[in-house]
Amino acid sequence: MVQLGQLVLSLLPLAFWAEQQLPITDPHDIPHPHSGFTRPADATTTKSIAIVGAGSGGLAALKSILDLPPETRAGWEVVLYEQRRDVGGVWLPDPPGPLPTPPDLPESPLYPRLHTNTPHPAMTYRNFTFPPGTPLLPRWDAVQQYYTDYAVHYGLNEYIHLNHTVISTQWHGDDKEGDWHVEVHARGGNDGRKVVLKRTFDHLIVATGNDHYPKIPTWNGTATWLAGTRPGRPARQIEHSIYYRDPEVYADKTVVIVGGGPSARDIAIQIGPIAKVIYQSLQSDSVPIPGRTIIPKPLISHFTRDAVVFQDGSVLRDVDAVLLGTGYELRMPFLCSPHASVMDTDPYTRANSSTARKLTSNLRYVFPLHRHIFSIAPDVPTTALAFIGLPVFIANAPSDTAQGIFVAHVIANASLLPPRDAMMQELLEHEATVRANGPDLYRVGYRLIGDNTEEQDYQDQLIEDLKKQGALPNDGKKFAEDWRRMARLNWIRLAQAWWRVEELGEEARWLEGMETESEWADMMHRLADWQRDWEKEHGRVDITGAFNAEY
Ligand SMILES: Cc1cc2nc3c(=O)[nH]c(=O)nc-3n(C[C@H](O)[C@H](O)[C@H](O)COP(=O)(O)OP(=O)(O)OC[C@H]3O[C@@H](n4cnc5c(N)ncnc54)[C@H](O)[C@@H]3O)c2cc1C
Ligand SMILES: NC(=O)c1ccc[n+]([C@@H]2O[C@H](COP(=O)([O-])OP(=O)(O)OC[C@H]3O[C@@H](n4cnc5c(N)ncnc54)[C@H](OP(=O)(O)O)[C@@H]3O)[C@@H](O)[C@H]2O)c1
Ligand SMILES: *[C@@H]1O[C@H](CO)[C@@H](O)[C@H](O)[C@H]1NC(C)=O
Ligand SMILES: *[C@@H]1O[C@H](CO)[C@@H](O)[C@H](O)[C@H]1NC(C)=O
Ligand SMILES: *[C@@H]1O[C@H](CO)[C@@H](O)[C@H](O)[C@H]1NC(C)=O
Ligand SMILES: *[C@@H]1O[C@H](CO)[C@@H](O)[C@H](O)[C@H]1NC(C)=O
Ligand SMILES: *[C@@H]1O[C@H](CO)[C@@H](O)[C@H](O)[C@H]1NC(C)=O
Repeated sequence: MVQLGQLVLSLLPLAFWAEQQLPITDPHDIPHPHSGFTRPADATTTKSIAIVGAGSGGLAALKSILDLPPETRAGWEVVLYEQRRDVGGVWLPDPPGPLPTPPDLPESPLYPRLHTNTPHPAMTYRNFTFPPGTPLLPRWDAVQQYYTDYAVHYGLNEYIHLNHTVISTQWHGDDKEGDWHVEVHARGGNDGRKVVLKRTFDHLIVATGNDHYPKIPTWNGTATWLAGTRPGRPARQIEHSIYYRDPEVYADKTVVIVGGGPSARDIAIQIGPIAKVIYQSLQSDSVPIPGRTIIPKPLISHFTRDAVVFQDGSVLRDVDAVLLGTGYELRMPFLCSPHASVMDTDPYTRANSSTARKLTSNLRYVFPLHRHIFSIAPDVPTTALAFIGLPVFIANAPSDTAQGIFVAHVIANASLLPPRDAMMQELLEHEATVRANGPDLYRVGYRLIGDNTEEQDYQDQLIEDLKKQGALPNDGKKFAEDWRRMARLNWIRLAQAWWRVEELGEEARWLEGMETESEWADMMHRLADWQRDWEKEHGRVDITGAFNAEY
């Protein structure tokens, strides 16, 4: 140890030299023997872990690692790199100033009028509630504040490096051992200088989110249509929802909204009162927004100089704007060529979990992964690379926590994972079961599909597995509390109930005295009952069923 300490000191001039050459390197780090990459300087470091992303997923991963018993994580180094100026992920708005224009991307899809579509008590980490008085479906800023508060409350910030963008993560080694070579670009605080860090880590946890790379369909004729002008009308536009901020842009316009997901729906509702006409272009099996004056259309076929042409041959000549609520592509550029060779990204790939020689994203589904988390691709050790937060259409924080706890324990004890071929067998069986029930994971991606509480069952299974193997004490309790199951089953009912509460101006009555987790849970029970009674009286039943039919 003493010798290593001396080594660090003797390397200081070298480190300063490197800094001038490349403007890089934490002078406390030791150069890696085989490259310009440095290891953690502290010779007592037994494991080093890099987490990418400080949204819901990255914070959960970090907290779960810090929650391990001190003797288990003695000597571990954990670093979280976040490219943005603060924590919160999609809930942190773009910095003030003009929004980037295509092909540049905004930092977040967040728009000023965004409210959650899920009751906030269901979106919480365990035992960490939103502040008293928070409306059940709060605006985005309450959620951003929630993540900020969480990081402060649990002392996470000392591990988080903001303004640090992970550029490449390359595995050096084989399927049994090796290390990650991680290159990070940091924006300097005061002088704004770019600093390049090159570090090695033993484990990499990727929590970079699903909603950052817009899926933009291409059609014949868009350029000609965009160039076409009509006297007295504004310039035509085609824009993805990631750029949507202000409904006023659509005032008095004829708009085609493409897609039937939450973005398309929410934006349709926001621009509804001011747009001239709204059409919604949907796959035939999608459900149009009920009770709104929105004219359903089939998928777009192509554009001409004058018109938008749909697949049923119908033609619209008066369209001013096309808004793409077409969702997002699953990309992690730092794992891929030209930055690294860990993952292939290919929408047309013919590989599947059993044939892929390398981790693969077809933009919807990343495979092969053990329980949506660990890469079991043949070229990396099974504990080297973990993903947090891939499942979608769920309340993230609890799921991210269950995944984070699973990852933390597996990093502590690799024997908690079955052998690679057993994990592959489990995955292939899971994919086959889902396919037999209808959807294909390669097409729908990480939507947990099954009965309504698959989201909670998934979390329970992860934690149950750790208990069975003695990694966690067996307290006989399920991980997902019953009230979270209730909230999941009544998701839409609770949202509709809250909209009614707001219409009636009765928020204060419902929010009064709500502080602890169990008080919020009771309130959601009462609210669901209140709404069920109203549904009975007004002849509306099974909203939840309609919701599930959509997803
Ligand atoms: C418009 C919108 C509304 C939503 N509304 C709801 C809702 O009402 N209820 C709900 O439950 N869920 C909602 N969601 C889902 C939401 O995505 C999740 O709730 C959750 O916040 C996702 O967290 P995450 O950590 O997985 O990803 P993100 O929040 O995307 O965080 C990923 C982080 O990784 C960082 N990062 C990415 N690449 C790098 C890199 N190379 N180097 C360093 N850092 C990097 C990003 O900057 C980001 O901060 C919504 C999503 C969107 C887009
Ligand atoms: N709190 C809120 O109110 C709120 C608001 C916005 C977003 N969100 C969240 O943000 C995330 C992303 O939501 P999103 O709506 O942007 O994406 P999404 O949920 O992936 O929905 C995109 C939709 O567009 C469809 N689509 C794709 N290509 C199409 C095409 N060429 N023509 C017609 N339809 C096409 C998709 O259908 P296929 O899958 O069949 O291709 C899908 O239904 C979700 O987690 C969502 O919950 C929440
Ligand atoms: C829950 O949070 C409260 C308040 O922060 C704390 O007193 C309590 O010990 C926590 N309970 C658990 C189980 O962590
Ligand atoms: C991150 O960058 C922003 C400017 O983009 C700056 O205001 C902020 O101070 C930086 N934060 C840190 C921790 O360096
Ligand atoms: C686009 O137009 C070209 C040339 O007119 C045609 O050959 C091609 O089939 C069209 N593609 C589609 C998808 O319609
Ligand atoms: C995976 O691909 C191989 C080769 O194309 C094919 O034989 C096999 O049936 C595929 N497996 C599944 C589950 O689709
Ligand atoms: C690691 O996990 C294995 C498998 O469950 C278990 O047998 C072993 O005791 C664990 N090791 C430690 C140090 O906890």
